[in-house]
Amino acid sequence: PTIQFVQHDGRTDNVDASIGASLMKAAVAAGVPGILAECGGQAMCATCHVHVRSDADALPPVTEDEDEMLDCATSPRVSSSRLSCQLPVTEEFDGMIVYVPEEEL
Ligand code: FES
Repeated sequence: PTIQFVQHDGRTDNVDASIGASLMKAAVAAGVPGILAECGGQAMCATCHVHVRSDADALPPVTEDEDEMLDCATSPRVSSSRLSCQLPVTEEFDGMIVYVPEEEL
């Protein structure tokens, strides 16, 4: 599936993601800026915070760990906020638009 990552400055990366790998891994492998993933995907750092535009059905529900970390994210949490490391890519992600918030550091 192809996923579009959009930066706050308008830069757009179209990433060909592998099914089963996390959205975070796909972004990091493709060199998408702003996804630091300091904890390596453990839902412990919130530096992989993104805003996902998608119908909610394609996404797994927010777990308790993810919920707590999203509250600690550097950029403000919004209703579409997710930790990209907690989102395993499925076929349904094709065409998804993911916004990388500013101030991820
Ligand atoms: Fe650390 Fe996602 S990589 S919370």
